[in-house]
Formats: sequence, structure tokens, C-alpha cells
Amino acid sequence: MFDSSTVTDLASLTAWFGSYCRSFRGSDLEAQRNFDLKELHTRNVCEAARLIAAGGDERRQMLAQVAGLCHDLGRFPQYREYRTFLDSQSVNHAHLSAQILKQSSLLDFLPKEERDSVYFAVRLHNVFQLPAGLPPATEDLLRLVRDADKLDIWRVFIDYFFAPEGERASAAGLGFPDLPSCSPEVLEAVEAGRMVELATLKSLNDFKLLQLSWVYDINFVTTHKLIKERSLIQQLAATLPDDAVVQGIVTRVHDYLEDRLASESAT
Ligand SMILES: [Fe+2]
Repeated sequence: MFDSSTVTDLASLTAWFGSYCRSFRGSDLEAQRNFDLKELHTRNVCEAARLIAAGGDERRQMLAQVAGLCHDLGRFPQYREYRTFLDSQSVNHAHLSAQILKQSSLLDFLPKEERDSVYFAVRLHNVFQLPAGLPPATEDLLRLVRDADKLDIWRVFIDYFFAPEGERASAAGLGFPDLPSCSPEVLEAVEAGRMVELATLKSLNDFKLLQLSWVYDINFVTTHKLIKERSLIQQLAATLPDDAVVQGIVTRVHDYLEDRLASESAT
């Protein structure tokens, strides 16, 4: 692996990330598919972060990409050690990513304040609710990375659900059983406009509903636009049971997005 002390900017951090991914390569095909999934996801989150931050402060856009590149570093050792991406059965991968940052020189090219912002955006990127009292620049970066992450997680799962079984990255489904129904409490949360909590899930369908509910947790206009442009709600909806209750909930989420877009274009 490249020595992290050679990282001096976003370009060399990106090159370092490539060598980091290569250091996990091995002959196990299943493991490789899961590592490849996280490598592509990370590169896409970095690009989504760039898009969301586009048109504004260039420094902010650079930091958004740095945070995107670093947010899931912990996924690689997590999978190598535990063979799962389920944090509850292994380790908090965001904390592990932050620990990797702390123990390396990856962010040394940034001034202390920016380094801290990236560190906390990485460490907190998977929390259910944002903590109060973060410095404004850190909170902004955290919100940005969370939006970028969701945008690409939707792509990952849509690909997963539509891929033939033998070609799926095995750890992507998080091991939920593919039962025919959805849990009432999960349906209720989405209907009420609330985010679904991971602990309430019982099936793959519940997990799809959780992902739909993420639309309620999006922070930036560009992300709302990209959700619409990429037809993410429709694609997720197509994988859910075709019954009136479920499709009614899909319409609820769809209408929420349209309302947000209308109010954002009015301001
Ligand atoms: Fe993550």
C-alpha cells in the first residue's frame, strides 16, 4: 500500500485509496465481489459529494470529496475480519473508518479545523440522528456525505435486487430473509413520514422500505433533483410487493419528494 504520508491533496488521496483497495485483493471470489462493491460505492459517493457541492465554495467541494473517499474505509477490514457488512454483528464501520484516519497521516495535508470536520463527518456518517452542537462547517460536511452516501446506496441495492442471484455481492443484502410481506410497524413509520430504524427490520422488504424512508432525511436540493433524475423511488418501488398498502406508501414518499422539489424551486 502507498504510504499515507505521501498524501498531499485530493488526487494523491484518490491514488492512495486505489492502493488501499488493492491491498485487500485475494483469491476468494465472493470476498472480492464484496470489496469491489465497496470500492465502486466509495468512488461513486465521492463523485456524488462533488455534484452536491458543485457551484459553491471550491474548498468545500474538495472536502466533500475527501470525506466521501474516506467514509467507508472501515468496510474493508470489517468484511475481511467478520465477512459481513452488518455493523450489529461485527463493528461500527464508521468508527473503524475514523480510527483508520486517526492512525494514519491521510488527512495531515489539511489544516486542523478541516481535518476535524472530515473526521467527524466520517465517524458520524451512519448515525440515525445527527447530534446537536456540531460546528456549522462539520455539520454541513456531515449532511453532504450522508446525502451522497444514500444516493449511491440506492444504486447498490437496485443493482442487487435486479442482479441474477449468482452475480450478487453476497453481503449487500445484509442477510435479511426474503419474506413476501412487510412488517406493519415499518409500513406505519414510512406512512407517517418517519425514518425506519434498522432494529425494527424483519425482512428484505422491510429493508427496502427503510431505504425509501431515507428520502425524508435528505438535506440538499441537488440530492432531491438527483433522486428524481435517477428515478430511484420508482426503481425501488418496482422491487416491492405490488399491493395497495405498499404502493400507497410509495406514492406518499413520491409526493413528499415532489413537494420538497416544488418548495425548493420556489425559493
Ligand atoms: Fe458507510
